[in-house]
Amino acid sequence: MQLAVRGVVGLSSSASLIFNCQGAHHAEQPKHDAIALLKADHRKVEDLFEKFENARSDHKQALVQQICTELCIHTMIEEEIFYPACQGKIEHDDLLEESYVEHDGAKVLIAELLDSEPDAAFYDAKVSVLSEMIKHHVKEEEKRSEGLFAQAKEAGLDTEALGERLLDRKQALMEEFKNGAKLPPPETRSFTGHELLQGAPVDAGAAG
Ligand SMILES: [Fe+2]
Ligand SMILES: [Fe+2]
Repeated sequence: MQLAVRGVVGLSSSASLIFNCQGAHHAEQPKHDAIALLKADHRKVEDLFEKFENARSDHKQALVQQICTELCIHTMIEEEIFYPACQGKIEHDDLLEESYVEHDGAKVLIAELLDSEPDAAFYDAKVSVLSEMIKHHVKEEEKRSEGLFAQAKEAGLDTEALGERLLDRKQALMEEFKNGAKLPPPETRSFTGHELLQGAPVDAGAAG
């Protein structure tokens, strides 16, 4: 009798894959599914944000570094591979445009956080707002039937072939940024780089 088993496996690299196993003795080559991989990234970063909420102050910077690394890699593989594959194929392209803008909004906070330390004014607030922004974005991607992933499936994208490409690129980027290697400044895709002027600093204590 053949058993069809379908599951998600966490890899040490935090990448995940979906596999189909036809019977115990004739396992097929693992197949990587793009949507499963991207969702696993979402869960990982949600978990890191949760850890940050309960972290002691001496652990905060390492956690933020990890969050920013995960988010940078995730946004890069989506923007380089997944989003372009959706372009012109999904029903609502405006959702894709919003995704690029949401990514760019998050990158502003990522850049701020990478350049500051936990005792800096507004540090925790920036992490908290970044977490909220990512929550909203993830919801838009994962929403049943109308979300970007659901639309990609509906459009019949080859999520296995895409998954292979995402995983390859993700592994290469993880290698590049491992052991705390300095992340490059996030690259925007939709923001056109207007210079902002810094006004008089707010007293964070008074603001809170
Ligand atoms: Fe995502
Ligand atoms: Fe995204």
